[in-house]
Amino acid sequence: MMHARLHSPLELAGRRLRNRIGFAAMSSRFGEPYRVSDRMIAHLASRAAGGAALVLTEAMAAAPSAATPVRVSVFDEGAFAGLARLAEAVGRHGALAIGQLWHGGSAHHGPRGLDSVGASAVPDGMSWTVPRVLSHAEIEGLVGDYADSAARLRRAGFAGVEVSAAHGFLPLQFLSPVTNRRDDRWGGDAQGRSAFVRTILRAIRAACGPDFIIGLKMPAEDGVPGSIDAEEADRLVRAIVADAPPDWLCFSQGSHGWSLHWHAPDMHDPVVPYRHLWRRLRRAAGPVPIAAIGRIPDPAAAEAILAAGDAELVMLARPLLADPHWPEKSREGRAITPCIACNACWGEIHRGVPMGCSVNPHAGTPADGAPPTRAARSKRVVVVGAGMAGLQAAVGAAERGHAVTLFGTGLGGAAALHARLPGCADIAPAITHLADRAQAAEVALRIGTLASAADVLALAPDAVVLATGAEMALPAGLPPGTDLRSIVAALLADPTRRFRRALLLDLDATPGTYDAAELLAARSDHLLLVTPRETIARDSPLLVAQGIHRRLAALRVALRPFHEVARAGSGRALLRHVLTGAEEEVEADLLAVSAPRRPRDGLAETLRRAGLPVRVVGDALAPRLMLSAVREGQAAADAL
Ligand SMILES: Cc1cc2nc3c(=O)[nH]c(=O)nc-3n(C[C@H](O)[C@H](O)[C@H](O)COP(=O)(O)O)c2cc1C
Ligand code: SF4
Repeated sequence: MMHARLHSPLELAGRRLRNRIGFAAMSSRFGEPYRVSDRMIAHLASRAAGGAALVLTEAMAAAPSAATPVRVSVFDEGAFAGLARLAEAVGRHGALAIGQLWHGGSAHHGPRGLDSVGASAVPDGMSWTVPRVLSHAEIEGLVGDYADSAARLRRAGFAGVEVSAAHGFLPLQFLSPVTNRRDDRWGGDAQGRSAFVRTILRAIRAACGPDFIIGLKMPAEDGVPGSIDAEEADRLVRAIVADAPPDWLCFSQGSHGWSLHWHAPDMHDPVVPYRHLWRRLRRAAGPVPIAAIGRIPDPAAAEAILAAGDAELVMLARPLLADPHWPEKSREGRAITPCIACNACWGEIHRGVPMGCSVNPHAGTPADGAPPTRAARSKRVVVVGAGMAGLQAAVGAAERGHAVTLFGTGLGGAAALHARLPGCADIAPAITHLADRAQAAEVALRIGTLASAADVLALAPDAVVLATGAEMALPAGLPPGTDLRSIVAALLADPTRRFRRALLLDLDATPGTYDAAELLAARSDHLLLVTPRETIARDSPLLVAQGIHRRLAALRVALRPFHEVARAGSGRALLRHVLTGAEEEVEADLLAVSAPRRPRDGLAETLRRAGLPVRVVGDALAPRLMLSAVREGQAAADAL
């Protein structure tokens, strides 16, 4: 057995965990309005089947004033039957089901909330919602709702709950001195501000008994000036542990504002970034086990955290979305599909669609975590293009038993270039992982070759998957050779090239544009980033966008919204305001244009005319992100 500590049992509230791994709460949009769905059950059951000891549900509304259609109304008896099916499905695979109890209070990602309640009349850090202040009686009512919800979960077969007091939601609004200005017994010092959380924990214990697991998720630092830093967290934890000790403490950083991205550090952030906080709060936590969370990249890192005594338990959210079999594979030393920390999963749910994953194309489908289904008849399949879509198609088809030939100029395509940009190294292992699977599944690799129609026809395939990607198409009037991809390739090839005043025109707005901006900023004395839109990174998930803004600001990149480049040449560029038409000339010894991408699908027609069934996938179909490319590649394989 590998990673012995990770796979040693642990006892919490008298219940035995088969290992130290929990699937952390992930809101998914897999549910039905206010209710558990079959899709949600299958998603969580597959994390249990993959070997996790604890499977946490996503945040669920603990009280009527928290109700929203995208969260299960756990306060409502009408949700009981679905919850019971969920607990049974998780338990069937030897895992313990834990329900996360949530109340958003004044926190809204979108526009201001209209009916929000909160500790005090202080604006939410993102939507600026000023909540209606809760009365003493209402607070006591809420405590009762939390206890009733927990008791319902217990009756439904859950082994415990996790109270969400993180990410700026209502319990954190009580904990924080910024959002809690009360002078009654629910506010004041750490003792008073923790009263809401303490009373909830005590009420749940009273309602559910000593053998019901109660976890608490709260920040060790919330990143809001004047709010909770490690010192304040220390005081709060001591107050909580002395009065109503939970069965674990899970420290999740950030709050509902500019620090929101702290809770899900992305590929640009260091791995295991919060270890110092677990160490710092160890004494305050006393006998309460600490559940480590946040960008724990692999089993070795998890094992090291436990071995150092920094935590007793490891919670994994994105890694187990990327690969539900992470726990059992870590025990057996098998290769795990690595999460690339892109936060596209978060982007999907906040776009209002069910969660997906850039490296797990089956996430959220009945096939998630299941072994590949063998095809009834083995076909000869040619995949053209070895970027992420093509690689996934080739791997998926070969693992189903087809004889696959994969043509491509280089493994990973555009993703391989992206992986070489600052802060993007996590993309590389995802490419390597697919390449290894391709090799194991005996895909015939023809890498280095841009396949012609004749190459494909010579193999007389039964089916062709075209995954030839996209290219940047410069708008008319801009000098040739200024497309960002060519410029990035040239800069990576020559690390000595530098510029005085670089100008990047953003007409693409994908994360790769801003990663390239970091490279340009590092290679120039000054970078001006121009966009015709009102802001940059508008299409990126908020968590990703916050990081982009933070990094570009730190690099002193100047932003010029509402502008286009009217003309460029001889070291100068003419900028034009898109609303007023006002023009301004600027110096630019480098112009780079992140131009809109155009599908490179020229082969499709020729091959179809030759009578071959061709399926176009990924950017060759329509330029988007890796998540779509990988999903379509796999869908093409599943359809063969
Ligand atoms: C798509 C997505 C949904 C999440 N939903 C929740 C949630 O419902 N409740 C919660 O406490 N945390 C939620 N989180 C935060 C995770 O539980 C976890 O704290 C964070 O992702 C860091 O852990 P990881 O690096 O293992 O992903 C979510 C994170 C992501 C990416
Ligand atoms: S979408 Fe990205 S961050 Fe989310 S689990 Fe998948 S690889 Fe990880």
